[in-house]
Amino acid sequence: MKTTLIDSLQQSVTEAFEAAGFEAKFGAVRVSDRPDLADFQCNGLMGVAKSRKMNPALAGEAVMEKLELGGLFEAEFVKPGFLNFRATDNALTQAVAAQAGDARALSDSAEKPAKIMVDYGGPNLAKEMHVGHLRSAIVGQGLINLLAFAGHDVVSDVHLGDWGLQIGQLISQIEEVRPDLFEEEVEAPLTMENLQEWYPQASAKSKADEAFRDRARKATSALQAGDAQYMRLWRRIVEVSKASLRRDYDRLGCEFTYFHGESRYQDMLGQIVEKLEKSGDAVLDDGAIVVHLQTDKKLPPLMLRNSNGGYGYGATDLATIVDRVEQDDPDYILYVVDARQKMHFQQVFLAAGQTGLSGGAQLEHTAFGTVNGTDGKPFKTREGGVMRLHDLMDEMHAAARKRLEEMGQLSGAELEAAAEQIGLAAIKFGELSHDRESNYVFDMEQFLQFEGKTGPYIQYTCVRIASLMQRAKAAGLLPAPFRDVTENARPVVLTLDEFAGKVQRAVETRKPNHLAMHVYKLANVTNSFYQSNRVLGEGIDPGVAASHLGLLEAASQQLRLGLDLLGIEVPARM
Ligand code: ARG
Repeated sequence: MKTTLIDSLQQSVTEAFEAAGFEAKFGAVRVSDRPDLADFQCNGLMGVAKSRKMNPALAGEAVMEKLELGGLFEAEFVKPGFLNFRATDNALTQAVAAQAGDARALSDSAEKPAKIMVDYGGPNLAKEMHVGHLRSAIVGQGLINLLAFAGHDVVSDVHLGDWGLQIGQLISQIEEVRPDLFEEEVEAPLTMENLQEWYPQASAKSKADEAFRDRARKATSALQAGDAQYMRLWRRIVEVSKASLRRDYDRLGCEFTYFHGESRYQDMLGQIVEKLEKSGDAVLDDGAIVVHLQTDKKLPPLMLRNSNGGYGYGATDLATIVDRVEQDDPDYILYVVDARQKMHFQQVFLAAGQTGLSGGAQLEHTAFGTVNGTDGKPFKTREGGVMRLHDLMDEMHAAARKRLEEMGQLSGAELEAAAEQIGLAAIKFGELSHDRESNYVFDMEQFLQFEGKTGPYIQYTCVRIASLMQRAKAAGLLPAPFRDVTENARPVVLTLDEFAGKVQRAVETRKPNHLAMHVYKLANVTNSFYQSNRVLGEGIDPGVAASHLGLLEAASQQLRLGLDLLGIEVPARM
């Protein structure tokens, strides 16, 4: 058997439907939702009966007659019109053997390889990242891993917000509090802490103080016109910010092909708008230049240039698309960005499409919801402030360290390294086990539990199996091909078999939670098997024990592969 159980069953059932003269679409097979009754089921006979105006039992009989299951499945017709299938022990052992090679070989993804650009991260200059940036970073990187695993050619870009009015505000604030920084011919001595102090001050003042707002607007224009002093300081701010952002992203395991900023596109804006005006795609509207969206009249037009002559977020995103089409010519561009920007992307996508700027690229807003605190409101620190991502990671690390100290297995550098891996696993699995489109509660305590739907629980499952393997090896016992289909083995094999389908689903829907939940399910059934099928001890047949180890090894390989795709590392010990 060179495919998964479900693929091989699907093939047989499709052939039987066709041989019986029925349409193949009615022969769809899926994992049974009553595992006590069957492993797989097909519900299409009712459809056949309806379209043919025939008795479903007769249709069932016709299909049953043509079914050739090669000793891998037992089939049963169930009234009024269902087919139930149960995998034989022979099929189960073959399925594990097939998995033992490379799980990748089993996913016969029909999709052809595409070039995919993932726009994720999306942080802003001078602002350190907070939990709000967590979703884009973790979902984005998870998707990149999954898409690459499915054979796609993936590139990514952080799309740093390093330009625009907020920079003008910051510069105006620096002019007030540290004018010396502008005179400096040498490198301005700036730190992230400075920026973090000045940035909120600047935004607050722009709201309250008309004169300041004016100065900030002028500073923005001067910067955009290339004022030498402003540019020098801006470059320094970019440098300091990027170093801090990179540190956080490195720690989170995010790898970007490009670390481009919005400033990259500034020189393109004028040309693009001019070209669109000439072609009639963009028009003057109340002093501003806009693109009216043809297919969705309810949407406000996309603003390219405001009446003051300033280019905004929309124009920058159009220019970014032009640049990406030129550089990489992607088939898809995924924007892993907060759902609250839905309208912006609808406007940008429609405008890019109708003006022809997006070339052959399909644009998708891979939107996500809000991260809430345990009080149900957007996540804050205990003091009510915004928690920096960096501090959040430190807190999770500290909590994991405490837990490891209680367990008493590790010490020193090994303990620190494991604490980091467990803290990050808690954060990442907490995120990835939720549908990206819904809001979720960031519950530190719950995410760090070693029991339940958590990253540490799955890590711990892997570590326990590894430790059992070591003890078995010391007792002269090595894993052998799985052959002993005990009661709790069946769900393990059937779950292993679902991997390829779940990966495909995660890729198609751009939702890593399908894989995360699969990995969790596999950890659960594997733990039940582990507990009820002892390997070491008196009176255990070594052949049976070796078969158990063979199944545990297959499960452990898939758990680790799944975690790896989710960006989660497994400590050697816990
Ligand atoms: N920096 C933006 C923000 O903070 C997110 C950027 C998303 N990507 C994009 N191409 N617009 O909202």
